Amino acid sequence: MSENVLTLIYLLAAVLFIFGLKMLSKVPTAARGNRISAAGMLLATVATFFALTGGTAISLIWVAVALAIGGLIGLRMATKVEMTAMPQMVALLNGFGGVASLLVACGDYALPATLKAAKSYERYVEGSDVVDASLLLTLEQFAAAIPVPWSSLLATGLAALIGGVTFTGSLIAFGKLQGTKWAPDAPVQFAGQKAIIGVLLAGGLILSVFLAVQPDAWFSLLLIVVMALVLGVLLVIGIGGADMPVVIALLNSYSGIAAAMAGFVLNNYALIITGSLVGASGLILTSIMCKAMNRSLMNVLFGGMGSAVAGGGSAIDGEAKESSPEDAAIVLEAAEQIIIVPGYGMAVAQAQHAVKELAQELEKRGKRVYYAIHPVAGRMPGHMNVLLAEAGVEYDVLLDLEPSNAQLPQSDVALVIGANDVTNPDARTNEQSPLYGMPILDVDMARTVFVIKRSLNPGFAGIQNPLYFLNNTRMVFGDAKKVVTELAGELEGI
Ligand code: TAP
Repeated sequence: MSENVLTLIYLLAAVLFIFGLKMLSKVPTAARGNRISAAGMLLATVATFFALTGGTAISLIWVAVALAIGGLIGLRMATKVEMTAMPQMVALLNGFGGVASLLVACGDYALPATLKAAKSYERYVEGSDVVDASLLLTLEQFAAAIPVPWSSLLATGLAALIGGVTFTGSLIAFGKLQGTKWAPDAPVQFAGQKAIIGVLLAGGLILSVFLAVQPDAWFSLLLIVVMALVLGVLLVIGIGGADMPVVIALLNSYSGIAAAMAGFVLNNYALIITGSLVGASGLILTSIMCKAMNRSLMNVLFGGMGSAVAGGGSAIDGEAKESSPEDAAIVLEAAEQIIIVPGYGMAVAQAQHAVKELAQELEKRGKRVYYAIHPVAGRMPGHMNVLLAEAGVEYDVLLDLEPSNAQLPQSDVALVIGANDVTNPDARTNEQSPLYGMPILDVDMARTVFVIKRSLNPGFAGIQNPLYFLNNTRMVFGDAKKVVTELAGELEGI
């Protein structure tokens, strides 16, 4: 395959990635976008194999075997994984991406110079019009005459550094989310941790530059790898388990940057483009999540938050008023517009199917039912969308933050199901609150608010929610699935 054809195929693959990514930003087109991007990746992978091996029958078999093994493992992982365990799986895949870039960089560095120069040597021989072959340089002379460029060596060091951090960081993130003993959920922090992180990071960068000017200094590459692996552990171990989704988005970005660096090492355009796309989209997602939580990236990385945080909430006056599913059903029966506000508790209780049945019961009675989706409700991006889509809820009744807040003041009932922080009015009014400034769903603006949760305990941020003590709020205590099922039963009986 000629180099021009290969470049064209890479360009086509890049176009498919970009279209696919664009489609991923809307729920109805997301699945198609995923397939389009996957097709781009298949195209780029097969073309690379062909270019490297010359498109012989043997190479075809290699392509088929490699794709079959990777594809089957991926298919099994994707079909077996529980929806709630998706962040762990993404963490693992990011880690694999990181270690692949690290191995590519080290493998390329270890290749004999004659092998690296073989392709250019072929072009040199084909392009020369010298009749007497003995006048041409030998492969060894040719390889010695073209030193590896410093930029490629710098990329080798950076690919190993970022790839190594991504690998061990992702494994720790996986362990924290999976609840393993070797990666405790609570932040593990010790004196001097930030200083060690700083030294390792600076050391890795300095050694990458050193490698670029001293190509034979293989021990620098070895040191970079060791430092990167330790750095990945230290960076992530100090972050609480509940912050892992943000960390995983960031590690996703790192895996992309490491892949782009590996692309520079190999001079492979497809890898540079895909790596840059992953790097940029991971960073954008990280920034969206931090903004929606009203926290800086530094606070996520070094704040040690993630287990309950005490203090900073409103001092609560008064008592929360309790209601039964029976009473709540009577109010719902009289309502015209109801906004369901799902949160992490709905995911824990796996109540999404019961919620959909309740909504259907309400719609049968002529009520308008919408779902208000906060961008960081739950524990992973799109958590609520995924669960509700799994239960068969139509996309057009899922409202984002702003349209939800436009509808809430005109709603008769806001039915909060296992959501807490994303409804906390302190975020609007209490400057002392850790949530102050975070955009929230204004559920307190609805005529009546029913909150389904098991107790008055705080949510992720560890602070009390004054919503529960307002005059128009009624608490319906219990497990979300159980209460919602009872509510639907009561409604049927009216
Ligand atoms: P949270 O504020 O975490 O509150 C969830 C509530 O669900 C808890 O107060 C809990 O109260 C209740 N609950 C738990 N199990 C339940 C069950 N079986 N039945 C009924 N209720 C149950 O959730 P949220 O409002 O969705 O907010 C998400 C929080 O996570 C935000 O602070 C956000 O910043 C943070 N966060 C989100 C993400 C992403 S990307 N979504 C990533 C990291 C952090 P009880 O114990 O009283 O039942």
